[in-house]
Amino acid sequence: MTDNQGVSRRGVLSGIGALGLGAIVLQTGGTYTDAEAKAVRMEKWPWPYVKLDPAKTAEIAYNEWYRVYCGAAVISSIFGQLRQKVGEPYKSFPIDAFIFLEGGVSGWGTICGSNLGANIVSNLIIGPRTGESEDGMLMGSEILQWYSDAQLPTFKPKNPKFAGEIPTTISNSPLCHISVGRWMKASGKELKSPERRHRCACVTGSVAYHLVELLNEWKDKKYDTKGEIPAAAFGIQTQMNCGDCHGGNIPSPPQAKVVK
Ligand code: HEC
Repeated sequence: MTDNQGVSRRGVLSGIGALGLGAIVLQTGGTYTDAEAKAVRMEKWPWPYVKLDPAKTAEIAYNEWYRVYCGAAVISSIFGQLRQKVGEPYKSFPIDAFIFLEGGVSGWGTICGSNLGANIVSNLIIGPRTGESEDGMLMGSEILQWYSDAQLPTFKPKNPKFAGEIPTTISNSPLCHISVGRWMKASGKELKSPERRHRCACVTGSVAYHLVELLNEWKDKKYDTKGEIPAAAFGIQTQMNCGDCHGGNIPSPPQAKVVK
């Protein structure tokens, strides 16, 4: 480590200390005492939810795409309405901080932001899988599978910002790069075209629509999840359709050795 790095590292540490959090961690050598844990882990789930109208939510998500893009638009379409109908904790939740989900997280084409936004919403409303129910995470997983299989976009806005018809495509993947890439190939339209922008806004509306359908079922205590965790079945974090990338030559992950 050079001197420069040493200095900047110390600077970072004292910066954290000034916010209070660093002081707690340092006092206890990296482990929280019971009292500190109580102060730090204040989260409570589920968050209050009232049933929303899927079509209205999708319309909001479509329009919000043009302001904050896919991920934050899904969050905004649901939390924005809940800010009005419920209030806290939605009023304090910083929706626009999630603009960076655009383009598969800062333009890296990883998970489509609308899927990520949907997972954030389901896990905040229902809670994490380590809490009372695994349904938040499983609902998120169900959305990823639904997105991969659907002929997208499934939603058409009442007042579209692009008036013509656009093709629909099956992405076979929850990834932004593959989803947008397959649609670009089918349409011949470039990234900045009004058609591509309208398409991603409609996909965002489609995801918001389906998510609200599932959340409404959950609210009515009728949610029976179709979500699965692929890593548990395959021994590697993955999407389900191996052959899409590996062709006929699908590798097996290393297996745990059974010792007799
Ligand atoms: C989105 C594309 C994609 C999908 C879908 C996918 N993989 Fe992969 N996988 C890759 C790439 C790319 C690598 C890296 C390959 C390399 O470096 O040779 C990889 C690596 C692996 C590896 C470790 C490297 C090796 O050769 O052993 C395993 C095991 C693996 N994949 C198994 C699977 C299985 C099983 C599935 C389906 C359940 C799957 N993959 C689905 C793209 C994918």
